[in-house]
Amino acid sequence: MKTLSQSPTDPDFVQNPYAFYAAARAHGPFFLWADYDLPCTCSAVAVNAIFRDRRFGREAPPECAPPIPPHIAAFYAVEANSMLELEPPRHTRLRSLVLRAFTSRRIAALAPEIDVLTHQLIDAFPKDGFDLLQHFARKLPVIVIARLLGVPEAMSGDLLHWSNAMVGMYRAHRSRADEDRAAAATQAFVDFLTGYVDQRRARPADDLITHLIAAEAEGQRLTTEELISTCILLLNAGHEATVHTLGNGVRTLLQTATPLAMLAPDGVERTIEEILRFDPPLHIFTRWAYTDVQVMGQRFQRGDRVGLLLAAANRDPVVWDHPDRFDPARPIKPNASFGAGLHFCVGAPLARLELQIALPILFARCPNLRLAVPPDYANTYHFHGLERLVLTDAPPG
Ligand code: HEM
Repeated sequence: MKTLSQSPTDPDFVQNPYAFYAAARAHGPFFLWADYDLPCTCSAVAVNAIFRDRRFGREAPPECAPPIPPHIAAFYAVEANSMLELEPPRHTRLRSLVLRAFTSRRIAALAPEIDVLTHQLIDAFPKDGFDLLQHFARKLPVIVIARLLGVPEAMSGDLLHWSNAMVGMYRAHRSRADEDRAAAATQAFVDFLTGYVDQRRARPADDLITHLIAAEAEGQRLTTEELISTCILLLNAGHEATVHTLGNGVRTLLQTATPLAMLAPDGVERTIEEILRFDPPLHIFTRWAYTDVQVMGQRFQRGDRVGLLLAAANRDPVVWDHPDRFDPARPIKPNASFGAGLHFCVGAPLARLELQIALPILFARCPNLRLAVPPDYANTYHFHGLERLVLTDAPPG
């Protein structure tokens, strides 16, 4: 396995990580990413195989679990009850409770609301030059997930703030200040939800919180800690990635001068899948090996970790023709952006629905949309998303 160095905070890498992935791929399915001291793969076959292989998982083997410093205990207390960090049987129980409330019927029923909300946000755009992330991409997903859960929309600002601070824990080379912010935000989030869930016990409604409270009340199927962690996971996972898919997607559509026809009803699904493949918001997820196992000639021992580079898998020429070309007419086939296997993204149908509704409306309502300032990616490898996306819709000339 070849050892490669690449700082995840190097400005050229942040703006274009795909060049490094292509170079790494040339050395075979696995390479050791020296900066993380982590074997990683850019291979679509290996990424898919490890996601689906039960000999790998997200939960650390008990003898490998790192000690938790007291100043970030609040953060890890929430993670300890989050399905994303667990393996069966607890993962199965938590995930099936969420899926029971997250039915395709309930998701599809959100379409008219997403449509109205998209129009409302566009109505409120400033007249000249505006940041699409601030006025659109950051607002839509958080309002949708807050409504689905049954959390007051007025809390959106706090939810965004807490969630941004919490994902700071995944920042490359995070600082003590990042950790303190994440722990404080976690505590504030838990305090809010504990009070809110208490109020809501007496006020059932047709929302996810009511459903989860019912599961908690019915017996031992969901503890209060699990209920709170599940709400936090859904609220955080439910918007951060969608925000940046909207941003990255609009940037790509504008930079490639993609014709509006590609967002018409007969093409929008393909276009959104291509946006997700071409420039996804989440690039790396890790797995622990639970036993000695070999994948594409690479040996892993119990306690080893491996990095799955989703965005690199999406550009693997073994699977994709001309992978570096944005081609919204490309026939749909599975990409790695939502993961695969046991932890496959619960919110994928909701994220797709939001993108498929919001982008056609945005481009139809703003026919002169173009970049006012060349956009830069933020220096946060844990989220590959833009700092700002300043656009104008003024008629040209
Ligand atoms: C474009 C937007 C999104 C992307 C790219 C995305 C990506 C992902 C990925 C890659 C995973 C798997 C992580 C792993 O296997 O280690 C995941 C899991 C998850 N996502 Fe998403 N996600 C998106 C939107 C959403 C939304 C809207 C929701 C909630 C409504 C959501 C909720 C979740 C949850 C709960 C999990 C954990 C599932 C489990 O552990 O079984 N995501 N997501």
